[in-house]
Amino acid sequence: MSPTEPLTLVVNGRPVTPLASPTTRLLDYLRTELGLTGTKEGCGAGECGACTVLLDGRPVNACLVLLGSVAGRTVTTIEGLSDGAGGLHPVQQAFVDAGAVQCGFCTPGAVLTAAAFVDAGNDYSAAAARAALSGNLCRCTGYAKILQAVERAVAGRREAP
Ligand code: FES
Ligand code: FES
Repeated sequence: MSPTEPLTLVVNGRPVTPLASPTTRLLDYLRTELGLTGTKEGCGAGECGACTVLLDGRPVNACLVLLGSVAGRTVTTIEGLSDGAGGLHPVQQAFVDAGAVQCGFCTPGAVLTAAAFVDAGNDYSAAAARAALSGNLCRCTGYAKILQAVERAVAGRREAP
């Protein structure tokens, strides 16, 4: 991006040109300018994963990413994960089916991280799923049901036509 070019990126499939300064945290831009409040702020320091979004399909902590660094890139928030026709992403459905949601504060970030893991074609093992989700802290579920949800989603992917 040249200094005179407007900063643009794609959020949930839609090209956007932010009004916010390039030094704005991606987290604040998403929540404040776009109203995408599914992305949560916990620690604000890259420790909890509540602010996880997908950047070009990979999980990042939006509290650590400056808007200016994502020019031309693709961001997916929890609001953009469903199929666009009101249907849940298979990982969202698996979280519901496994009962992997309690207070829900960690859930958007955990779902996005899990979706990246599943959509990347990874096989399920508890160790691999734990490693993938190690940056997403949950204070309610004890993680067992979150891991069950990932296992269900991987199994569902295998059975998909
Ligand atoms: S709010 Fe970003 S990692 Fe905790
Ligand atoms: S469900 Fe409450 S922090 Fe995870």
